[in-house]
Amino acid sequence: MLSLLAAGGAEAFSAFAPSLSAPKSLRLRQESVTMSSNDNPMSRRAAVVVTAGLLGSFLAPKESKAEGAFSLPALPYDYKSLEPYIDEETMKLHHDKHFNAYLTNLNKALEGKPAAKLTDIQKEAIKAGPAIRNNGGGYYNHALFFKEMGPAANSGKPSAALQKAIDASFGSMDKMKEEFNAAAAKRFGSGWAWLGVTPEGKLAITSTPNQDNPLMEGCEGQKMIPVLGLDVWEHAYYLKYQNRRPEYITNWWSVVNWEAVSNNYEKFAAKGIPVEVV
Ligand SMILES: [Fe+2]
Repeated sequence: MLSLLAAGGAEAFSAFAPSLSAPKSLRLRQESVTMSSNDNPMSRRAAVVVTAGLLGSFLAPKESKAEGAFSLPALPYDYKSLEPYIDEETMKLHHDKHFNAYLTNLNKALEGKPAAKLTDIQKEAIKAGPAIRNNGGGYYNHALFFKEMGPAANSGKPSAALQKAIDASFGSMDKMKEEFNAAAAKRFGSGWAWLGVTPEGKLAITSTPNQDNPLMEGCEGQKMIPVLGLDVWEHAYYLKYQNRRPEYITNWWSVVNWEAVSNNYEKFAAKGIPVEVV
């Protein structure tokens, strides 16, 4: 019952007065209290007071939970529009199942906790323990990943400011890609490769294991504000590429949306602000 009530979220507030519009779980609670009033000396009015008290005790934490809960961002393009570089089936599974599982588990892990910004959650994720670390990281990383891609025809180019920063740190776009690809290929097992801005304000490349990211205090790799991340978990490429991770990495550049990455750089990372992805 508790979990069902929790699932009602903020809707419970508007549903309280007209009980027929209340979530089923709340109606069941109201019905059970009202029925018990017929079997004992408690008046109907007293039963209503008890019902209100019960609801009130659940509504307070639920409201903050609803504020702190996250949702699944819609894919900003069609599942098949990254073909032939990333196949439709992989995109469906990756977005609707894997991404959604991180979201669901993050929301569960946040139940009863005060609302917090997703980027703040990243910072403290390792200290917070595996549920927040794995699912909070998984949610952030995938939100960034799906937004930074798009159809190859619209891939475009980095903005002048981003191109200048790439040239300053790596010498050229090709050199940056070379270093990035090596980091992605070398990541043992599951993880991510990242392009981001270091605390010194320079672009650099790093890689993290599992669903960690470089916003997390204490993570492996270089601390930075990521502007571009590549998922090298097998679920991101295995259906099409099987064991050919380097081919997936090379092809993935064709579907990078440079307008989105430039936006991440100019509006956030270049100013020292972690990229807001939801
Ligand atoms: Fe993934």
